[in-house]
Amino acid sequence: MLKTPTIAMYETSADYLREKLHTVGLPAPTTAVILGSGLGTYAEAETIQNKIHIPYRDIPEFPVSTVSYQKGELVAGEVAGKTVLFFNGRFHYYEGWEMWETAYPVSVCHLLGVKTMLITNAAGGLRPETLTPGDLICVTDHIKLCADSPVRGKNLPEMGERFFDMQSVYDRSLIAMAKACANENGFSLGEGVYAYMTGPQFETPAEIRMLRLLGADLVGMSTVPEVICAAHCGIRVLCISCVTNYAAGVTGAPMTEKEVLDTSASIAGKFRTLLDAVIPKL
Ligand code: HPA
Repeated sequence: MLKTPTIAMYETSADYLREKLHTVGLPAPTTAVILGSGLGTYAEAETIQNKIHIPYRDIPEFPVSTVSYQKGELVAGEVAGKTVLFFNGRFHYYEGWEMWETAYPVSVCHLLGVKTMLITNAAGGLRPETLTPGDLICVTDHIKLCADSPVRGKNLPEMGERFFDMQSVYDRSLIAMAKACANENGFSLGEGVYAYMTGPQFETPAEIRMLRLLGADLVGMSTVPEVICAAHCGIRVLCISCVTNYAAGVTGAPMTEKEVLDTSASIAGKFRTLLDAVIPKL
């Protein structure tokens, strides 16, 4: 049987964080942000006041990320008078975590009272006619082909129902708000369907052709376990992908992690502008 989490584990992590926030006078959070590749430095933004840095390794029961360029810390602070949690460093299935572990921050957020979450990621673009590296896209839905689920195993009723709806987790009003914020800053946000592939290998050209036929626009190795967990516990999600590269087979160029990191770094400024506008409205 799969080793599944207990509510006590999540409570232990949540109790520690509640206490930490309390000691610095931060009210309970209602909003959280998961920062994807290339956006880690966002947690340093001056727009976040009364910041407190909490390394994941200090949080009891919390996983510790192994991706070298990600920091592995939670930054909590105030934005527009609200406490916001910024997760700088996330957990990927390809690192060897169970799927529920990859969504661990979301479960803890639910116990802390978070109701809205912004999730960002880097993704490959499947449709060169409409998507170019450097574009920012709102995810409207996803496709998950692998069998696993972050809520496989014994259901924890404190988190949510055994069977739950996935139709509205990518909240339309949040998408409309993010698009309006982009327009006010002189650019536009497209919409797309994100296909989750577990990696760490990039996809084959045949896999990308299949995903295109299935209706996907973007492909990536994160986010979907977190979104499923958010739907389970009733957290609304705004997900924004940065198109970092054309997906496998689109141009025939070799796929590299460097291209992903270079593109996300090159548009970090635009992404930051968008987050500055969006986060106060979450
Ligand atoms: N495939 C999978 N994950 C990714 C990609 C990709 O092309 N680009 C960024 N993350």
